[in-house]
Amino acid sequence: MSLPSVQEPLLNKISGTDQKQVKIPKKIPESLRRTKAINIPNLDETQIIRHFHHLSQRNFGIDTGIYPLGSCTMKYNPKINEEIASWPQFSCLHPHQHESTIQGTLQMMYELENMLSELTGMDAFTLQPAAGAHGEFLGMLLARTYHQNNNDSKRVDVITPDTSHGTNPASISMAGFNVVEIPSTEEGTVDVSLLKKTVSERTACFMLTNPNTLGIFESDILEIADIVHDAGGLLYYDGANMNAIMGKVRPGDMGFDIVHLNLHKTFSSPHGGGGPGSGPIGVSKRLIPFLPVPRIQKKKDTYGFTYDHPQSVGKIKGFYGNVDVLLRAYTYILMMGANGLQKASEIAVLNANYLKKKILEKPGFDLPFRDLRKHEFVLSAEELRKNKKVRAMDVAKRLLDYGVHPPTMYFPLIVKEALMIEPTETEPKNALDEYAQILHKIASEDAEIVKSAPSNTVVGRVDEVNATRNPVLTWKQIKESEK
Ligand SMILES: Cc1ncc(COP(=O)(O)O)c(C=O)c1O
Repeated sequence: MSLPSVQEPLLNKISGTDQKQVKIPKKIPESLRRTKAINIPNLDETQIIRHFHHLSQRNFGIDTGIYPLGSCTMKYNPKINEEIASWPQFSCLHPHQHESTIQGTLQMMYELENMLSELTGMDAFTLQPAAGAHGEFLGMLLARTYHQNNNDSKRVDVITPDTSHGTNPASISMAGFNVVEIPSTEEGTVDVSLLKKTVSERTACFMLTNPNTLGIFESDILEIADIVHDAGGLLYYDGANMNAIMGKVRPGDMGFDIVHLNLHKTFSSPHGGGGPGSGPIGVSKRLIPFLPVPRIQKKKDTYGFTYDHPQSVGKIKGFYGNVDVLLRAYTYILMMGANGLQKASEIAVLNANYLKKKILEKPGFDLPFRDLRKHEFVLSAEELRKNKKVRAMDVAKRLLDYGVHPPTMYFPLIVKEALMIEPTETEPKNALDEYAQILHKIASEDAEIVKSAPSNTVVGRVDEVNATRNPVLTWKQIKESEK
């Protein structure tokens, strides 16, 4: 059956088979106009759907299988979060809407600030930063403004241990401070006596995550806080690892003055691939005046923004932060409740220690530093490198052949051939057992097989450095003759 003739020119244009010049509006400059119709494949709907569906299946995500990226924490994202974030009452809001029309959203943000304050033991929160690193940067600005306000501008150094996350020194330096890195002890923790010698009247802040990136809890934290405070510095908590201690201990009670949280990790919002994040900052009382504006306030039963904070560092994000991420975190916290959050941390720690023990039952990998870990642990594949010339990267690539996601590699830098594994609380025991079995199998495999992995994936080893340094972000059609 032929289509009515009136449809044909339109169909031709859509399918790209119309070689006649298409009428283009005059606003487009001559040099940018297409001279002939684009030669795109002429496919039917079934083929297109199959094509894109297959492409989507090439992606590995937390909904596909275990994804134990240490530090980057890919935990299950409850689907109720997505449903609520997609409600038109939230998804159709415009940031220029009048406050009186967004009372529900403002209430949610106000309550989230209070919940985060309660969970961390801080006195106030801002929800503006769009990621953990953005929160760190704001934290550094707060420290600077605090010291400037005390006429103490000689404080230009920020100390951080060699286990710190890469974003820590980057944020310190972006905010104009000097990075002072101190080596960790043989236990993998802060060297307290070295810290004592390092602090001075130049110290603006000490930046630390606890548990640290090795997954080890810094048990000297109270002494560390005294050392830093006695020297006139502030203590900054990188709270990306808060999922290890929720409901157990609070950074505020440990003596931290500034705290950032990664809502897109601990509080279950999806992330990765550059998706939106949220790195709220909590502070102790003495830093509240410097928090960014606008702040959310409640007057009687009405919520609104206020800019009436003359000592504020100003605005650090367009509008009010990534509200959809805030909403997911709010939903998650309400759904879990205080006991549920505490249990999530307990299971995250249990899972990490269980998996660590399972992997170490057979040869292949070692665990440097102190044994007991919190939410994550860092193995070394150094023995494999020495004995079989198999590197951590090769192990990671071979894991892809077994259909599971590799851990974080080569971080922290103080572990040779590091594999940083964080199973999270949402993995069942059989998934952990299977992961350990796969690692044992890889450790016993022929070195050449591991070194040439992956062999089952659509894409083999890519030139990652080149891809990062010279990204090709446009698509160029390759002509048949050039293939
Ligand atoms: C310990 C730690 N600090 C900071 C960050 C930075 O967070 P974001 O990736 O949201 O900038 C991360 C993220 O991986 C982290 O694991």
